[in-house]
Amino acid sequence: MNKKMTISSIKKTKGVRSLVMITAYDALFAKLLEPNSDMILVGDSLNMSFAGKSDTLSATMDQMIYHTNAVCMGAKNSFVVCDMPFGTFINKEEALKNSIRVFQETQADCVKIEAGEDKAEIVKYLTSNGIAVCGHIGLLPQSVRSQGGYKVKGKTEQEKLQLIRDAKAIEAAGAFCMVMEGVKAEIAGEIASSVTIPVIGIGAGADVDGQVLVFSDMLGLFEEFNPKFVKKYMDGATLVKNAVKRYADDVQSKEFPQEIHTY
Ligand code: KIV
Repeated sequence: MNKKMTISSIKKTKGVRSLVMITAYDALFAKLLEPNSDMILVGDSLNMSFAGKSDTLSATMDQMIYHTNAVCMGAKNSFVVCDMPFGTFINKEEALKNSIRVFQETQADCVKIEAGEDKAEIVKYLTSNGIAVCGHIGLLPQSVRSQGGYKVKGKTEQEKLQLIRDAKAIEAAGAFCMVMEGVKAEIAGEIASSVTIPVIGIGAGADVDGQVLVFSDMLGLFEEFNPKFVKKYMDGATLVKNAVKRYADDVQSKEFPQEIHTY
């Protein structure tokens, strides 16, 4: 995955291979993730795993721009997605004004919007004004308070039909791909195959066109949150704590610094 993906190459993966998307919030991790990811998402999840808040709702446009710039600096060869935070796309004009900021103030390749059929007009306005849009359907973390929690979608026939309408509306509005979060696996494949653009799943099973995970979840660094859909590829929290304990012990015992660390 060394060649930078484009909107066209992302679309062409549909039915051919699975897309790999991972979040990053800084240059350091973006550089480490770049060689093995197709797309790096600067998710508003940074409000939780970077800033320590209990949900994503208070992330701001300025913060997203700051972190997107850092990610673009670290992963110059990556397709970077900037998440639009809560309240920044409440109508067409606000959405365009804020998306233009992303394109003018960062090197991000597209914006991501938690939007289904109800916001398709906004997506259409953005795409017709030169903004590339990745949609986000299913469980929408920005709706956690209005929905009374994080609720898996697609449990009823009605919810399934709504998800298909959401996916189709976002595609018709010009989105080039979409994230689908927290959807029953047995219907996720049907939703993904109802559109011609890639549907990247998180907590939506294997029958979709790619997967996205929050880097601090998959590296086991974020201990507050341990959802079923996350596979931990390492126990980062234990590794970090053990390393810092060894450092602290060395400082106390004067094992560190030694000759080789000294000018
Ligand atoms: O903010 C985020 O990291 C996201 C992913 C969970 C898809 O939207």
